[in-house]
Order: sequence, then C-alpha cells, then structure tokens
Amino acid sequence: MVEFTLPKNSVVQAGKEHLSESRDGTIKRVEVYRWDPDTGENPRMDVYEIDLDNCGPMVLDAIIKIKNEIDSTLTFRRSCREGVCGSCAMNINGKNTLACTKAIEDIEGTIRIYPLPHMQVVKDLVPDLTHFYAQYASIKPWIETQTPAPADRERLQSVEDRAKLDGLYECILCACCSTSCPSYWWNSERYLGPAILLQAYRWIADSRDENTGERLDALEDPFKLYRCHTIMACTDTCPKGLNPAKAIAEIKKLIVERQ
Ligand code: SF4
Ligand code: SF4
Ligand code: FES
Repeated sequence: MVEFTLPKNSVVQAGKEHLSESRDGTIKRVEVYRWDPDTGENPRMDVYEIDLDNCGPMVLDAIIKIKNEIDSTLTFRRSCREGVCGSCAMNINGKNTLACTKAIEDIEGTIRIYPLPHMQVVKDLVPDLTHFYAQYASIKPWIETQTPAPADRERLQSVEDRAKLDGLYECILCACCSTSCPSYWWNSERYLGPAILLQAYRWIADSRDENTGERLDALEDPFKLYRCHTIMACTDTCPKGLNPAKAIAEIKKLIVERQ
C-alpha cells in the first residue's frame, strides 16, 4: 500500500482550550479549525465550551457566541442567518452545510467545524471563493436574447415554463455541493462543478433565454461538464434540498438530443 507523508506545515495540531468552569449537562464542546496566514504557524483545532442555556439554537449562534464572549479572533462569514445568503457554508461534523440552519440539538456530542473542504483558506473558516465566482461568471448568469423585447411589456413566461425553474432558482451559491464533489476536488481548475452547472442549467431551462445553443456549445467539453460521474455527493449535501446531479444529467441529455 502507498503511504503518504503530509508536509509538516499542513498537519493540524491541537490548539487552545477555552473550557467552562461549569460541568453540568448544558455545556457543549465545540472544536473549531483555526489558521492564520500571518503567524506562519500550522493550522490547529481550538476547543471551546459553551453554555447552551445562554445560546441560540443553531451552530451559527454558537460561533457568534464564541466570537462575542470567548475569542474575538475567530474569523468566519455570515450575513442573513436564515439560509438565504450562503455565506455561512462550512463543514460541520463531516458534512458541508449552512451553520445558520444546522440545529445544535441535531448534533450528538462534540461539534466539529472546519472550512469548506478542498478550498484555499483565507483565514479560519473562510474559504477563498475567487475561482468559484469566476466560474459562475463564465456561464453568463443572465438572460441572453436575439430578438428585441416587446415595446409595451416585459418578456412574459407561461406558468408551465416558470415551473421549470423550480428546484434551480432556489440555489444560493453556497458552494456546499461543489466542495463535496470528488471530481471538483481533483479538477476544479477545469471542471465547473455541481453548483455552477446547476446555475448553467437554470439559464438553459429559462424559456426567455434565446442562446441555448451557445450555452450548450460552451459546456460540451470533457472537463467543464463531463467530469461529473454521478456520485451524487452534491445532491446529498445541498442544504436547500436541491438536486445538482439531476441538473447536470439534464444538460448532458440536451447535448445528446441535439446531435
Ligand atoms: S445547489 Fe445547493 S449546495 Fe449547491 S450551491 Fe446551490 S444551494 Fe448550495
Ligand atoms: S453527481 Fe457529479 S457533480 Fe455531483 S458529486 Fe457526483 S461527480 Fe460531483
Ligand atoms: S448566514 Fe446566510 S445562509 Fe447562513
């Protein structure tokens, strides 16, 4: 069997402990990945003990409590705290999800929090999404038309055509799916990944868009689209209950059907 040795600076070390003096049943242990590029030190797992009697119900509440009351150096993203902005995506007890919609009571024992996997880390729980957003821009996430708009009204859509966007428009671009996809881990430079492909299909499926052929041409590529091997990790992890693997299959089907 092949054995790998990690470079010394990539080994995650035991970190600082912020323990509670109380030992009753409402104390929850939270372990959080910490890494600060300015220190030159290895990443570490810090331990915090928080009192659930004085904490909101979600994992994001626990993280905010830690930052406000225990350790102001902890760095993370959040905005809406209701599953709409996608900012608080992170890996919680082995699964990519939104910290603001993950209930603490659903986690047995210690809460373990890491940044989204297989991304460059900016600091602590903040991944670098620059490349992810550039990939999003590459699929032209806006309506493209050839014909002029009607002079007296907007471009209309039937109820049936609008329904075709259900399961697509709800995507909040949190990147939980792409960062759970093994194909994206190994080929993210060239494979678009499930989030961006679901978004690409959202515009292909839109009856008002008139550039479907060009959109399919741009995706018909061994890497951009066909690195998806239907492993379904994306669909399994999506915190909005969407099905990126199905959207990818629909794109592949359209490409086959037009040949
Ligand atoms: S499909 Fe789901 S997991 Fe993927 S980016 Fe959209 S909301 Fe997030
Ligand atoms: S179904 Fe495709 S996109 Fe989803 S995790 Fe598997 S390989 Fe990745
Ligand atoms: S804070 Fe907006 S999705 Fe969690």
